[in-house]
Amino acid sequence: MSQLIAVIPGDGIGPEVMAQAVRLLELYRNKKSYDLDLWTLDLGAARYLRDGVSYPKDIAERIEREASAVLLGAMGDPRVPSLDYARDILFGLRFGLDLYANVRPVRALADRLVPLKDRTKSDVDFAVFRENTEGVYVNVGGQFKRGTPDEIAINEDINTRKGVERIVVAAFEHAKRTKSKTVHMADKSNAMQHAHELWKRTFFEVATRYPGIEPRHVYVDALCLFLVQDPSQFKVIVTNNLFGDIVTDLAAGLQGGLGMAASANVHASEPSRVAMFEPVHGSAPTLVGKDLANPFASFLTVGMMLTHLGYEGEEARIEQVIAAAIEKKMCTRDVGGDLGTKAAADWVLAELSKQV
Ligand code: NAD
Ligand code: IPM
Ligand code: MN
Repeated sequence: MSQLIAVIPGDGIGPEVMAQAVRLLELYRNKKSYDLDLWTLDLGAARYLRDGVSYPKDIAERIEREASAVLLGAMGDPRVPSLDYARDILFGLRFGLDLYANVRPVRALADRLVPLKDRTKSDVDFAVFRENTEGVYVNVGGQFKRGTPDEIAINEDINTRKGVERIVVAAFEHAKRTKSKTVHMADKSNAMQHAHELWKRTFFEVATRYPGIEPRHVYVDALCLFLVQDPSQFKVIVTNNLFGDIVTDLAAGLQGGLGMAASANVHASEPSRVAMFEPVHGSAPTLVGKDLANPFASFLTVGMMLTHLGYEGEEARIEQVIAAAIEKKMCTRDVGGDLGTKAAADWVLAELSKQV
């Protein structure tokens, strides 16, 4: 039976990189007869500006009922400064499908992508497990006396035992699968004594179920320091929604930039449920239409999606071919080449089609 993939190119460079990601999926459909049905959705700023539609209920329901995965480019358009529609779509997917684990692998595919002195690609190889359904992202709060000198603005930080526990478990399960000896948990329990004490307590409790994996607690500010000083000490990092967002942009800097960073949004305890895949980067408005966007983050994201769909081995193959492209400078400018978006994708697709 065919698997339905909802493709949401979105805004800015989203459609540019997704056009290449779709070619990658076509290659697998044509050469390996992968039975994938692509369902392209016109959602994003253009649609919102045209008819006010952000994330319609019937589409959300069909995704939940019929799709095996969602592949998303990026959301964000300067013409809609509030970004309401973008949150409707992104959070509609992440929260609506209860995709509580945002898995962001951080691997440098070539030594020259690592910006740190005397460090090589072997020093940058870890995964961030970002809680994806709670924290300050839930939009509990409000504004009061807006526009007056007495104005109040509140965004509550929501942390539930269930929510914290399941992402911590997902991180330990990943460590077990990948034979990692440590899991780091980053919080600010020194300042946020209520919410982050829950994180710390839950983390050490869950850790007792995983003998052989050392739980290490680190404050998130120190984590930023250590990531730059010596990223080789990290294998698995688990943290909350906001810190995970910030730390993974920093981490992307260790792997060659946002053009190289992939992510999966999954319901980790029931991996067969529909999941959402997106590069870590946004819509990069300054790159739009200039043939500068790096398509490799999207390709690596497709690799993660293929693993989710049950096609073992292709994620590693795609990664190896991209590593070769970087090595040979068959890549975009952000990673040291001088090819455009499609030309960089062409090289990878040609190489892959020799192999599959
Ligand atoms: P951004 O990720 O779009 O860009 C940050 C930097 O990385 C820029 O210098 C950009 O040129 C570069 N960059 C990003 N992707 C690249 C690629 N594929 N190739 C080469 N360089 C790349 O972040 P931003 O500028 O802070 O945000 C722009 C918009 O995107 C905002 O509206 C933001 O809210 C949105 N955003 C959306 C998502 C998402 O949809 N998941 C993620 C992040 C940001
Ligand atoms: C990301 C983005 C989003 C987030 C924004 C666009 C809301 O930065 O996916 O990393 O903060 O989750
Ligand atoms: Mn982000």
